[in-house]
Amino acid sequence: MAEMNSTRDFHRKTPIDLMKEYTICESFSHAGSPYEFLLESPRSYGAMIGDFLTGSGLLKKGTCVCEIGGGYGSLMSGLLGEYAHLIHRVYMLDLSQKLLLRQRGHLSQWLSRITSIQADVHEITDALRGIDLIIMNEVIGDLDAMTDIDPSEIQGEALRFIRTYDLETPKAGFFNLNIGAMKLVEAICRNNIPAFLSEHSSDPVIPEDMDYLKRDLILDGFPREIRLYKHSEYTIRFSHLIKIAASHGKTVRTGALLDLIPLRKTPRLKIIFTSRACSTESQEITYELLDHIREYRWMTIS
Ligand SMILES: C[S@@+](CC[C@H](N)C(=O)[O-])C[C@H]1O[C@@H](n2cnc3c(N)ncnc32)[C@H](O)[C@@H]1O
Repeated sequence: MAEMNSTRDFHRKTPIDLMKEYTICESFSHAGSPYEFLLESPRSYGAMIGDFLTGSGLLKKGTCVCEIGGGYGSLMSGLLGEYAHLIHRVYMLDLSQKLLLRQRGHLSQWLSRITSIQADVHEITDALRGIDLIIMNEVIGDLDAMTDIDPSEIQGEALRFIRTYDLETPKAGFFNLNIGAMKLVEAICRNNIPAFLSEHSSDPVIPEDMDYLKRDLILDGFPREIRLYKHSEYTIRFSHLIKIAASHGKTVRTGALLDLIPLRKTPRLKIIFTSRACSTESQEITYELLDHIREYRWMTIS
């Protein structure tokens, strides 16, 4: 019998420990982070995402940004640090009151233009209006996931999504669907709000010049459970979200998160990854980061 995995109670009551969750944003949270030596030039994650958003025309003068699930506020701090001159207003929306307070502390120098909202994004998707850009970084995997769906008994919302958008399902065996993320994308499209989404994917794409990262990687998988402290999240099948947004007539772009993070692509990276040579701390950090980040993907909807 299919069930719905929800992380709402967990996030409402327990501010997550992002160091344990090892988010990419926290790994590069500030210039001077332990991972900085891997970058072409020192830059925070928020600044790198800002570079991409300005380059792709999603962030321009006067933009009103809503970040959903901003964690410690590190992405927004890096983004405002570089691009505050373009950002008119910021809405930080999160389930966790403790994290909203922590974000305000981190963003104290820009408080006059920040509004914090405690809400569950599942419940307010249709109310999202008057915003020029939504940012959700490593959040959509936390949204509702329908689990253990029997292919011979697909019903309800799962059936509606699969039929409406002609979504592919596995040839055999029970499977999981990112119902929360799919509803969110539908709402983003209906409300005409441009969005940047990034998350751990079940169908990763690997940059052409880093082909060696494909080793032992499933490139066309379905959402799988990731067990974390007192909750589970699910990897995202981006091809499903892309089909939904495209069928609403949206322009969708997608790629590897590695495309947005300019690493120093020296031969050393390849040697460390392929030979798993981890005899020093910096080699260990390099291997760990590459092994983790290679499954991350971004998409924009506009
Ligand atoms: C894995 S953390 C990611 C934090 C940050 N964006 C990063 O990349 O480091 C997930 C964040 O989303 C928030 N969150 C989870 N479920 C949510 C929901 N249903 N509505 C709003 N916020 C949610 C959590 O409180 C937390 O801030």
